[in-house]
Amino acid sequence: MWKLEKQLSEQAGRLYFDGNSVSDLAERFSTPLYAYSEAGIRSNYRKLHGAFSGHYKKFRIFYAVKANNNPAVLRILQQEGAGADCSSPSEIMLARMAGFSVRDMLYTGNYNSNDEFRYAIEAGATLNLDDISHVQRVSGIKAQEELCFRINPGMGSSGEEKLVFAGPDAKFGISAERAAEAYALAKGLGTRRFGIHMMTGSNILDGQYFPEITARLLDIAGSIAENAGIAFSFVNIGGGFGIPYKPGEEELDINRVASSIVSVFKEKCSEHRLGEPELRIEPGRYLVGDAGILIAKVTTIKEASKRFIGCDAGMNTLLRPALYGAYHHIFVEGKADSSNAALGQHRGQLSYYNICGQVCENTDQFAKDRQLPGDVKEGDLLVMLNAGAYGFGMSSQYNSRPRAAEVLCSSGSAELIRERESTLDLISKVHMPSHLISDSGSRQEQII
Ligand code: LLP
Repeated sequence: MWKLEKQLSEQAGRLYFDGNSVSDLAERFSTPLYAYSEAGIRSNYRKLHGAFSGHYKKFRIFYAVKANNNPAVLRILQQEGAGADCSSPSEIMLARMAGFSVRDMLYTGNYNSNDEFRYAIEAGATLNLDDISHVQRVSGIKAQEELCFRINPGMGSSGEEKLVFAGPDAKFGISAERAAEAYALAKGLGTRRFGIHMMTGSNILDGQYFPEITARLLDIAGSIAENAGIAFSFVNIGGGFGIPYKPGEEELDINRVASSIVSVFKEKCSEHRLGEPELRIEPGRYLVGDAGILIAKVTTIKEASKRFIGCDAGMNTLLRPALYGAYHHIFVEGKADSSNAALGQHRGQLSYYNICGQVCENTDQFAKDRQLPGDVKEGDLLVMLNAGAYGFGMSSQYNSRPRAAEVLCSSGSAELIRERESTLDLISKVHMPSHLISDSGSRQEQII
């Protein structure tokens, strides 16, 4: 059952996020504003870790930094005991800044340049290679003691078509047919420890899928071990654990999912004589998605062919609706009603609205024909749920709009963890060629 967010509570219609009044947050830090709940992130981590480690001790979580790369968020997960899944040199740097040890970092880039590989190698991260052609290239930089390969097991899954990362159409990974060749090549070049990895889809709410795809990966691992004559020190089954975004969507029964994954994992390890490799997962969304909200202010109510609510956040702030048609539940501050049996509702008479941002694109609409209170007015606050993953990280400065601020809420207090950008940030890396500066050299030109 979908419910009012764990960290979000309602009293007389007023919303509180991890003990902070949403109106106070907006007043203090202005809008648009990303707010994250420290307790929420920690409890998501503990729930997930507990679900697996109860069944298999050699288990680790590698947090997918791309989901939310704010160093304060990274630090919380590092303190909880996570490793880091990094997808770019800068993610390695951010994870190191947040305290992750390079021994706990997997570098899963794709279509990398040699400079990027060199950076990851010099940092000391374990490489997860996306193509057989990378083996020679990375060994040419430095002999690799340990290597992992990303396998495309031939199928993927997701609630959204655009979030499927395996199968014939995917740009990721090495096919099962060529995998043994890749490992044999690495072994020939001196690699002694091996991992195997897949990442087949994101936001998966079908619990059955995980054991099924794990079995498939382990069958592939069995055949690689036999054909290349190697052993695996770890098996990484990727992220993809979904969260309910829409009212009515069922939460994953994570204890059941973990137990079914571990049971198939043990069975297949024994069938293929793989020993007891470490079992790894690398979730992003599951850890931080529901621990974040986006607060925006209504700027305009427009009565046209439809009723439009315009607000100060847009596809520049939260891209997911424009990019994937993704659903984010929206509350109007002061009008939420958690006493309603169908939680996630509002008080009073409802109307249908299209809710949009300020970017000059018609895809800049968070929702179409969404029911919200009929009396929404300028200045009201909108609270968009499940904005902790792939929110700020995918935001942009499009239409020359500086990026939003981020705050961390911890038991009733809130602290700024990323300042709001200013117009100066838009031009901080810009240079004006001297022949384009007018004789008088205006002040604006000089700034650039
Ligand atoms: N590992 C790798 C190699 C990945 O590429 C990803 C996500 C993850 C782990 C974490 O996946 P998660 O547990 O969050 O599903 N921008 C999209 C999601 C794209 C995910 C890309 N890779 C969204 O907004 O839903």
